[in-house]
Amino acid sequence: MHILHVVGARPNFMKAAPVLRALAVHVGIKQTLVHTGQHYDANMSDVFFEQLGMPRPDVNLEVGSGSHSRQTAEIMTRFEPVVLERRPDLVLVYGDVNSTVAAALVCAKLLVPVGHVEAGLRSRDRTMPEEINRLLTDQLADLLFTPSKDGDANLLREGVPAEKIHLVGNVMIDTLVRLLPAAEKRWPALQTNLDLGKVPYALVTLHRPSNVDDVENLGRIMDALYDIAVRLPVIFPVHPRTRQRLKLSSEGRVDPPLRLIEPVGYVDFLALQRHAALVITDSGGIQEETTFLSVPCLTLRENTERPITVEQGSNILVGRDLDRLRAETARILDGSSRRSRVPPLWDGKASERIAAVIADWFTARSLR
Ligand code: UD1
Ligand code: UDP
Repeated sequence: MHILHVVGARPNFMKAAPVLRALAVHVGIKQTLVHTGQHYDANMSDVFFEQLGMPRPDVNLEVGSGSHSRQTAEIMTRFEPVVLERRPDLVLVYGDVNSTVAAALVCAKLLVPVGHVEAGLRSRDRTMPEEINRLLTDQLADLLFTPSKDGDANLLREGVPAEKIHLVGNVMIDTLVRLLPAAEKRWPALQTNLDLGKVPYALVTLHRPSNVDDVENLGRIMDALYDIAVRLPVIFPVHPRTRQRLKLSSEGRVDPPLRLIEPVGYVDFLALQRHAALVITDSGGIQEETTFLSVPCLTLRENTERPITVEQGSNILVGRDLDRLRAETARILDGSSRRSRVPPLWDGKASERIAAVIADWFTARSLR
């Protein structure tokens, strides 16, 4: 059996890495890795291949940045000949980025089966580009691997046949579990490099267009972060989308301990999450990782496609209410944080379950 994986953006890498590893131990499976090139900076791409121990991509489509339509169309145009030439039995796509939906659509048109890892998540907010990508990818996929039960319920409600849906758990957590020891080993050096000492600190990431694209809006968020930084150091690895906008909005400030740094590699970021007093973010994956680590997380979004992190985990949606962000931060620093439970099947073995489902699927197909 030949399985082709498609990755393109930062959050794809930590999802694909464990699936590649789990499939590698199955006899008779050939794997091909395609990178679309949606993310291309060394600290948004190469560093993950190194740290996650991923094979180098067999093909890089080098699409780069562009508007949603241009980027999606360019990935489709460049990916189609790869599928035609390599003729995989199954293509695996990950998460909810433009690379995910573009690859799934190419496969659907060529009648090549698609598996979607991280299927069924819904924010019910169609202004979010990722929600469109999720809805479409799940309609196109033949195998849908869900991280939690709410994913199954969403898919059934949308008419996806039950036999296509496989509740396997969270592959991001597979990577976290595997690399937590490396992150702990890295921590003392990081603490020294960032001059963190033993004081509590907050960790921030922001990249959702709804938060960062409007410069005034981003300025208001930065004001709130500066207020928080008066109380404790704030470490903020800045996503390239946000870096562009910040150039326009953060001039002329005094310098409290708000530290804007370049995006960091996976192991460093995991160490920073693990030891943070709180995390402030609009990332999807970080809501899950903080839930697993039981680190308080304040999410600057009105909704989440990962409600389990609010219901069972350490996540609080503060929406666009920056006074609420200030108040919740104070509450956490004053010692009142929520109890957090690790959701079922977030156990480091989701990718093994995916590999087992794929092996069974292939056997059943061969017998047909
Ligand atoms: C993309 C995903 C988003 C995901 C995020 C993870 C879509 C629609 N969005 O958003 O779901 O949460 O990745 O990080 O697929 N840029 C660079 N260097 C890079 C990559 C991007 O400078 O290596 C800059 C470019 O100016 C680009 C901008 O960042 O225009 C945005 O990149 P893009 O991939 O379009 O979207 P993200 O905001 O990264
Ligand atoms: N991450 C990282 N370095 C950073 C910021 C994030 O390694 O500077 C990791 C983080 O631990 C998680 C993933 O990137 O595994 C989340 O990706 P991102 O926030 O870019 O995308 P989203 O999950 O919102 O789609």
